[in-house]
Amino acid sequence: MTLRLVFVGPPGAGKGTQAKVICQKWKIPQISTGDMLREAKANGTLPQELVQKMASGGLVPDEAVIELIRARTEKEDAANGFLLDGFPRTVPQAEALNKLLESRGQKLDIVVALDVPKELLMERACLRRTDKRTGQIYHLKYKPPPPDADLEHRADDHEDVVRNRLDTYEKMTADLLPFYEKAGLLKRIDGVGDVEEVTKRVVGALEQVKRLS
Ligand code: AP5
Repeated sequence: MTLRLVFVGPPGAGKGTQAKVICQKWKIPQISTGDMLREAKANGTLPQELVQKMASGGLVPDEAVIELIRARTEKEDAANGFLLDGFPRTVPQAEALNKLLESRGQKLDIVVALDVPKELLMERACLRRTDKRTGQIYHLKYKPPPPDADLEHRADDHEDVVRNRLDTYEKMTADLLPFYEKAGLLKRIDGVGDVEEVTKRVVGALEQVKRLS
């Protein structure tokens, strides 16, 4: 069974956390443009102007992420589907994705939007820590890391940058949800509650869409 889906949501909504569970369950790769950009930065291959864009909480240019997605979704492990985490974020990115999939005779099954109120997002992002060795996402309050974790605090998870990222999300993504709603692909999920509770809601939506297809 194939499954091609998109996770949309503001910074700290839980896209990465939920993506890991869903990808394990459906045996599809998690394709996160944020992770790919951070990896390129760590390798020293990300152009300086893009490093600065990310550090300030802005979006990198559409062409840069579209190319990353084109190349990554072509790989063999994505043949039976994938979960796009944090892409597309703008209507031009969504249109480019449609074109790309059409050229391969593929289409999206569903776009999951995780809804979380702004007041929770700041706390979720600022107290996030990631284990450098495993990529596991922790939270100092809601999911405390084990004592032997090798923790990293993301450079863009400081309060002033998170605020900018939230503003950017609101401005740049405003047209994206109506775009997918019009296409009949949008499913809004309440992202408030325990991680397991939110997972159940997402799994329910995916099972429903696959049953109907
Ligand atoms: P990216 O890495 O995509 O960041 P983001 O979209 O801002 O999302 P986050 O990773 O911050 O949050 P998340 O929703 O994954 O939350 P998580 O699961 O970690 O992008 C970074 C930057 O790259 C962008 O600012 C931009 O510059 C650039 N970029 C990326 N894609 C781009 C694109 N397409 N176009 C242009 N530029 C792009 O959870 C957060 C915390 O909350 C964790 O600590 C977690 O443990 C906790 N948590 C999760 N769920 C729950 C829950 N249910 N209850 C309690 N705590 C929870």
